[in-house]
Amino acid sequence: MTILVTGATGTVGRHVVDELIAAGHQVRALTRDPGKAVMPEGVEVVAGDLADPDSLGAAFDGVTAVHFINFAGDDYAPLPHGDRLVELAVKAGVRRVTVLGGRADGPLEQALAATELEWTLLHPVEFMSNTLQWWAQSVKHAGVVKEPFGGRLSAMVHEKDIAAVAAVVLTESGHGGRSYTLTGPQAITTSEKVRILGEAVGTDITFVELTEQEARVQWKSHGMGEETIEFLIEALGNTPEVGYTVVPTVERVTGRPARSFAEWATEHADAFRP
Ligand SMILES: NC(=O)c1ccc[n+]([C@@H]2O[C@H](COP(=O)([O-])OP(=O)(O)OC[C@H]3O[C@@H](n4cnc5c(N)ncnc54)[C@H](OP(=O)(O)O)[C@@H]3O)[C@@H](O)[C@H]2O)c1
Repeated sequence: MTILVTGATGTVGRHVVDELIAAGHQVRALTRDPGKAVMPEGVEVVAGDLADPDSLGAAFDGVTAVHFINFAGDDYAPLPHGDRLVELAVKAGVRRVTVLGGRADGPLEQALAATELEWTLLHPVEFMSNTLQWWAQSVKHAGVVKEPFGGRLSAMVHEKDIAAVAAVVLTESGHGGRSYTLTGPQAITTSEKVRILGEAVGTDITFVELTEQEARVQWKSHGMGEETIEFLIEALGNTPEVGYTVVPTVERVTGRPARSFAEWATEHADAFRP
C-alpha cells in the first residue's frame, strides 16, 4: 500500500513523510522539483504539479491513501482542479484522504464531499513554526521581536503533531468524515512566547509591540503581499475563539500529548542564536 504525500517538502508534509516512514509504510512524495527534494531513505520522489492534473498520472498509480495540501503555488491560491484530483484518486483506488486545511475550503474539499472516500479535514490553528519564519532573523541579529498584538492568545500547534495526526488518520480507520481542529497543549500570549523562546535560546529577547500600521510596513519590507498582510492583521488582531481554545484532539488521535511551545523552542533554539 503506497501513501501519496503532497506538500511533502513543506512545513507539515515533510513530517508526514517522516511519520509514515518511521511506521514502516511505503511513501511517495510529490514535488514540483525532485532535484531539490531531500527525503528520507526509502521514499519514492515523484514530480508533479497539483495545479496541472495532467502531470499527476504517475503520482497516483497504485496509491491507497493521500495527504493533500489544498493550495497551489507560493501565494496559497486554492487548488484549481479539485474535481480532477479527486477523480485521479478514486480511479487509483484511494480509500483514505487527509486535507491540510488552509484559509478556506475550496474546490478540493467540495469535490471530496461528493465522494464516498474516507476523508478527514485537518484544521490546525497557528503553526509554532511561524516563529521561525517571522522571528529568527531579528532575534539572531538584534535580539528583538517586533510584532503587533502582544497580548494576543494563541493555542499554537507543533507541525510534528499535525503530521502525527495525519499519519494515524491515513493508516487507521474511523476518522472518515471528520474535521479535526488541532491545537497545542496551552494558549499563550505573544509576549509569553518571546519569554519562553528566550529561555530556550539562553538570552533575553526584547519584545517591541508594533502598531498595526508599523506591522504593515514591516511585513511589506519582508516581501509579504497585501492580501497576506491583511489576512495577518485580521488573524492576529482578531483571532477567532478557535485559535486560542485548547482542544485534546492531538492526544485523542495519536495517544501522545501535544508538544508544548517550550519543546518546539528547545528543538529550534540554534536557528535563533547569532
Ligand atoms: N502557518 C500557519 O500558521 C497555518 C495555520 C493553519 C493552516 N495553515 C495552512 O497550512 C498550509 C501549509 O502552509 P505552509 O505555509 O506551511 O506551506 P508549505 O507547506 O511550506 O508549502 C509549500 C509546499 O507546498 C507544495 N506546493 C506548493 N504549490 C504546489 C503545486 N502547485 N504542486 C505541488 N506542490 C505544491 C510545495 O512543494 P514543492 O515546492 O516541493 O513543489 C511545498 O511542499 C496552507 O494551506 C496554510 O493555509 C497554515
